[in-house]
Amino acid sequence: MFDSNAAVYKRTAGSSAIELGERSAERARFLADVVSGLSRAGQKELPCHYLYDDLGSALFEAITLLPEYGLTRADERLLERHARALLPHLGGLPLVSELGSGSGRKTRHVLCALREMAGDRALTYAPIDISQAALEQCEKELAPFARVIPLRGSYLDGVAQASRLREPGQPLLVLFLGSTIGNFARQPAKDFLTSLRGHLVPGDVLLLGVDLLKTIDQMLLAYDDPTGVTAAFNLNLLGRINRALEGDFNLRRFRHQARYNPLERRVEMHLESLADQEVVIGAAELRIRFHAGETLFTESSYKYTAQEIAELAATAGFRCTEQWIDSEWPFAESVCIAC
Ligand code: AVI
Repeated sequence: MFDSNAAVYKRTAGSSAIELGERSAERARFLADVVSGLSRAGQKELPCHYLYDDLGSALFEAITLLPEYGLTRADERLLERHARALLPHLGGLPLVSELGSGSGRKTRHVLCALREMAGDRALTYAPIDISQAALEQCEKELAPFARVIPLRGSYLDGVAQASRLREPGQPLLVLFLGSTIGNFARQPAKDFLTSLRGHLVPGDVLLLGVDLLKTIDQMLLAYDDPTGVTAAFNLNLLGRINRALEGDFNLRRFRHQARYNPLERRVEMHLESLADQEVVIGAAELRIRFHAGETLFTESSYKYTAQEIAELAATAGFRCTEQWIDSEWPFAESVCIAC
């Protein structure tokens, strides 16, 4: 039988001092964000990256398999069909980097297309992620297709490192797939892409995968599936607070909610309190009050038109030269050249 305590002990016993230090710094940041996000007046809110602990990441993987969530399949279909069309946009064999270590399944299509161009030259792939486990998994899956150099850290630090890894004159191809940009608010998305452009040189290429606006019913179903996987993904955030910060959330007293906000053109995920209640965050000796019907705002998924993506790329210093749009699920892959 799986002994979770033994597993935790072994992991801790095998961890380096640096890893332990990083883990406690990560916990301190989580605690600070939970305290400020839950004790503010008005809308309670937490950054959506906290949805992804080990269990949250596994639940997200399950979401990508849901019939109602067509986004990931559309992304993969487009890459499978069109990756070879990238070649004429590249001024030579690029060093490939990816923001987020991605699923090997999707990225494989791009690497396979580039291998044709590589001939007997080595193809290098540098995935960037804050999760060591995700990087290890990605390396295992993609090592047969390229020399993998995992870069652990933030996206922008990682791109700066990847840029330094290239041979003189070699272009950089940056993959930013899966509509992760949709989890940034609109202005931060512009700011982020502008900073990313700052680490590139003219001719470098960004391949940007973004989910498009579709009917409200289709969007809501994608974020509130009848199987309840997205609900579990969202509620796990409260479970994570309980596990990591000695919280006492009763998950049965909260309900997952997906809302479409037409002004912002985004799908929002909330956790709605089903009663007037108080929750304790032991690690902060903090008591939080929720009214019945009050929500904790946990994620935004902004939706775009194809035209808006080209404009977004242009304001960040890229020229969008080609877009591939899926015929089954409105989703666009945009080829953006650094100007
Ligand atoms: C990772 N990200 C692009 C997903 C999205 O669609 O916004 C996260 C997600 N949240 C609920 N379902 C999927």
